[in-house]
Amino acid sequence: MTVSSAPGKVYLFGEHAVVYGEPAIPCAVERRATVSVTARDDDHVRVRAEDLSLNGFTVEYSGSTSDRPDVDVPAPLVEAAVGYIDAAVEQARDAADAPDAGFDITVQSDIPLGAGLGSSAAVVVAGIDAATRELGVELSPREIADRAYQAEYEVQDGQASRADTFCCAMGGAVRVEGDDCRTIDAPALPFVIGFDGGAGDTGTLVAGVRDLREQYDFAADTVETIGDIVRRGETLLADADPDEDPSDEFLSELGGFMNFNHGLLEALGVSSRSLDSMVWSAREAGAHGAKLTGAGGGGCIVAIDPTPETMTALRFTPGCEDAFRAELATEGVRVE
Ligand code: MEV
Repeated sequence: MTVSSAPGKVYLFGEHAVVYGEPAIPCAVERRATVSVTARDDDHVRVRAEDLSLNGFTVEYSGSTSDRPDVDVPAPLVEAAVGYIDAAVEQARDAADAPDAGFDITVQSDIPLGAGLGSSAAVVVAGIDAATRELGVELSPREIADRAYQAEYEVQDGQASRADTFCCAMGGAVRVEGDDCRTIDAPALPFVIGFDGGAGDTGTLVAGVRDLREQYDFAADTVETIGDIVRRGETLLADADPDEDPSDEFLSELGGFMNFNHGLLEALGVSSRSLDSMVWSAREAGAHGAKLTGAGGGGCIVAIDPTPETMTALRFTPGCEDAFRAELATEGVRVE
């Protein structure tokens, strides 16, 4: 058996705009998806997925991925997660030149599903790593990121950037602009995450922004302005000492950019009442900045606050189901 894990991520800046070639800066956070894989001696795939949301679900089926039998999947999001595993299996078979390889797979994740924290990317990245290693092939994190991107691209009908998968594979803070993906230095940022217990449909939200952008020049300008914010944020990060605790002045400027970014995402129609109320609650509690993270529509916000105030305020915010601190995960995909 081979066990691999990969971290989830938050977007410091740039989700949605990254789909149109603007830069984005996601940061890996210490909430991980763990995938255990054992090679079988037939070509079947059996997947057991546990705790894939904060409520916990279990789904089990067997069959080859191209001919997966109907299974009683308890929720559409879990169904989607199993789809990502299918795509990871196909990538592993391709990488190892073993089209008939079969696997028993167990997925455990403490990343809320579909909530903007990179749950699907982490599952795909860890799944490809564990399955290829189980077949005797060791891919570099960059190769895994590339294959994980192909898998996400397929599952999301061509509506995916490289940002989530690159970040989950490499760990730390990363910068993605089109096919140009690199790791960057960042100080330990005091992230606080608020989760509304829900999720957004990434495909629908990305399509909504695409329509707006095609219909109105001001929406296209909004997407470009998000890119400008990312570039300013990047310069700020580059000037900070990654080994020092960030100063209040630095966090205030960074947080101001996050607030601006959230406003533009709201204008593009991808926020929601619960995300907005968590963002406002964080700001009122003294957070340096707060924004939604990921596709939006529901799910998570990320705030910057070194004090406990934001977390406490979020826990009392109507519509907030959970709030927690998330450390920057310096390690990406790894064998457990
Ligand atoms: C989803 O986590 C982030 C989006 O920018 C889509 C993508 O980058 O693939 C909305």
